[in-house]
Amino acid sequence: MSALPFRIGFGEDAHRLEAGRPLVLGGVPVPHAELGAVAHSDGDAVLHAVADALLSGLALGDIGQYFPDTAAEWAGMDSRVIVARALELVAARGYVPGNVAVVVTLDRPKLGPLRAEIARSVAGLLNLPESEVGVSFKTSEGLAPAHVQTRVTALLVRAPGTGEG
Ligand code: C5P
Ligand code: MG
Repeated sequence: MSALPFRIGFGEDAHRLEAGRPLVLGGVPVPHAELGAVAHSDGDAVLHAVADALLSGLALGDIGQYFPDTAAEWAGMDSRVIVARALELVAARGYVPGNVAVVVTLDRPKLGPLRAEIARSVAGLLNLPESEVGVSFKTSEGLAPAHVQTRVTALLVRAPGTGEG
């Protein structure tokens, strides 16, 4: 058990983009995306970074250890399952997410119209109010047009009734 009542986690992910594939971010399908993620799972780079942020906050490793991308059983899997598993591992250590901040770097399409839906979706998976999920978008300024990059910080809070004692 950690001596700290708060733990900070950081996660990152990237996927190559190709025509003819779906693009899903934070559990939200992006309509009219010309390019989608090349991935073993559903390629949801937001949820992969969210899960890694949760795990890293308690030094629990990363999602590849729990969901190897060579395992046939995880092919095309819904990344919400990965977040649910990370949340369980965090809860087993006596912590819950406090707030999270998500940054998505993607040139096209514009994601601003999906900001609230992505925040709501991620918040729902983490049992948080939407106000505790910050979602920012950046372009790569044309440096990586066929690429999606995500970064997520997560504050973990020791759940009431647990901890050092
Ligand atoms: O990266 P840059 O500073 O050029 O982004 C400018 C604006 O475009 C930001 O306000 C951001 O929210 C928005 N944006 C977006 N969808 C993207 C990338 C950036 O809505 N895919
Ligand atoms: Mg990924």
